Amino acid sequence: MSGESKIEDKIRSKLANRKQTNSLRVLRTESNIIDFCSNDYLGFAKNISVKAVKDQGATGSRLISGNSKQFERIENKIAAFHNAPAGLIFNSGYDANIGLFSCIADKGDTIIYDQNIHASIRDGIRLSNARSFSFEHNNIDALEKKLQQADGHILVAIESVYSMDGDEARLEEIVAICEKHKADIILDEAHATGVIGKNGEGLAQSLNLEVKIFARVHTFGKAMGCHGAIVLGSKDLRQYLINFARSFIYTTALSKQSLNAIESAYDKLKESDDLIEQLSHNISLFQSLLSKKLQSKLISSTSPIQCILIPENETVKKVEAGLQKKGLNIRAIMHPTVEKGKERIRICIHSFNTEKEIKMCVSSLEKLVI
Ligand SMILES: Cc1ncc(COP(=O)(O)O)c(C=O)c1O
Repeated sequence: MSGESKIEDKIRSKLANRKQTNSLRVLRTESNIIDFCSNDYLGFAKNISVKAVKDQGATGSRLISGNSKQFERIENKIAAFHNAPAGLIFNSGYDANIGLFSCIADKGDTIIYDQNIHASIRDGIRLSNARSFSFEHNNIDALEKKLQQADGHILVAIESVYSMDGDEARLEEIVAICEKHKADIILDEAHATGVIGKNGEGLAQSLNLEVKIFARVHTFGKAMGCHGAIVLGSKDLRQYLINFARSFIYTTALSKQSLNAIESAYDKLKESDDLIEQLSHNISLFQSLLSKKLQSKLISSTSPIQCILIPENETVKKVEAGLQKKGLNIRAIMHPTVEKGKERIRICIHSFNTEKEIKMCVSSLEKLVI
């Protein structure tokens, strides 16, 4: 959230404590000194013996041998693209969320999360010592009731685009209510990255609200076509995660190859407004072709995630099988991934799907869904 946010004070004080006790972790970039610290025991990653492996491994965690100038340059570049002071790359969105949520709130603090939040955030919350409450999906009154019951530092976890329904968070209202109750927002932009905003900057930036969000998580495994994720926030938050996020500290870093791919994807994104427009056109086309019957089963969404509710695992599985038979790779989402009765066919629309493919998809659905 804003610079005077209380959670930022806590972060600074925990970092100061680490400094005082000489236990502050800092990242160092590579140097030409003799390697007696990496885990690259046979030198494979340095191409001493196996060409195909060169640069595939980072040789160690970021805090030991896996960090590089390339890492820090790309983090700065992505943070600038998303108008954030700093960013820290994690190996995946799952790692980013469990790392962030498990360390950001302590005993006595409260995490309030939308009931449709992603499993990675739920797991991160489970690993933290904070109290936690869910609130009814996208319901501002329900959120406010939970905010009134909260103690300590209050964090609110939401997604820009919910991965199973495809609908958007009511971000402007959530920001207003969180400001009123002095709560900090963590926004998972996984399905908004590359999709929302003129250049795919995400929901927060498309609404000019990024400065009001304490931390944003952008993942690279979806529209970016790569792997990994970045947590965006203040410089202190970055330093804090380096020191306390265990899924960052205790794992081998991403490889140079992965970083090259991430950088190239971000470079491409800057000139992809036509693809983003085409995607949006295809989503509208898909919706406009649906009959009243299918529209009544459609979960309201303007994102590429379009879901048709077909209750019961057995029924939805049959529809999935029928679609696959017609050569359409569309998956059923079943209970327990979603609530009983909310089983669905989940269609992901892409910029590259042709009009013919979209028409075929809709006509197949019309025939298979009773
Ligand atoms: C909302 C959301 N957050 C986080 C993740 C995890 O990202 P990753 O696949 O990079 O681990 C996903 C992936 O399904 C997601 O949908």
